[in-house]
Amino acid sequence: MIVAIDGPAGAGKSTISRMVADRLGWTYLDTGAMYRAVTLLAQEQGISSAAGEDLDQLARNLEISFQPGPAGAPRVFAGCREVTEAIRTQEVTGAVSEVSAHAGVREAMVERQRLCGNDGNVVVDGRDIGTVVFPRAEVKIFLTASVGERARRRRLELEGKGIEIGQEQMEREIAARDDLDSNREVAPLKAADDAIVLDTTEMSIEQVVDRVAEIIDAKI
Ligand code: DC
Repeated sequence: MIVAIDGPAGAGKSTISRMVADRLGWTYLDTGAMYRAVTLLAQEQGISSAAGEDLDQLARNLEISFQPGPAGAPRVFAGCREVTEAIRTQEVTGAVSEVSAHAGVREAMVERQRLCGNDGNVVVDGRDIGTVVFPRAEVKIFLTASVGERARRRRLELEGKGIEIGQEQMEREIAARDDLDSNREVAPLKAADDAIVLDTTEMSIEQVVDRVAEIIDAKI
């Protein structure tokens, strides 16, 4: 069974997807990490976020893999090199929406994401999972929350890493990513027609995990 979890930045997709997958003993695929890995390597190789052909080639040739991590969060590898931390910097976050808007980059990533879907029960999170990557997913959930709440969650996450960002600046950054992700030509962020929309603004992580697990149980 494929569970597609889409939604905007900071809606809690990766936390929820990982916890649901853990609870069920299923595989978790973080597709945002794949676009982040392409962005990191592009930055290291001096390839601009606007350089379509070079990015497409990089994406096609880049080997991305995942391994289970210590606290359940998967470790991410580009070739043999671990990039788990390096793909979460502000520098990568600031460029990934532009890189992921390129059709060739998306084509290369979507092909690999679909291969993971052949592996049995999987929870996949991203922006276009229920609409483009797995339009026939048995369960589709669109997780969202207010910009203010999403900014607050991201700030707390960054604070844990020693990075302090004001609420207003974070709201601006989140709104800018929403805008890029929702208005790009290829596979824009949007809820699939048959997705269940969950607004998590007023919900705790446990409540969201329970609700998603209930939805999956009902399908099983
Ligand atoms: O979920 P995240 O913040 O790690 O995603 C990083 C970026 O990657 C996000 O701004 C948009 C892009 N993305 C995408 O275009 N399609 C996906 N399936 C997943 C992520």
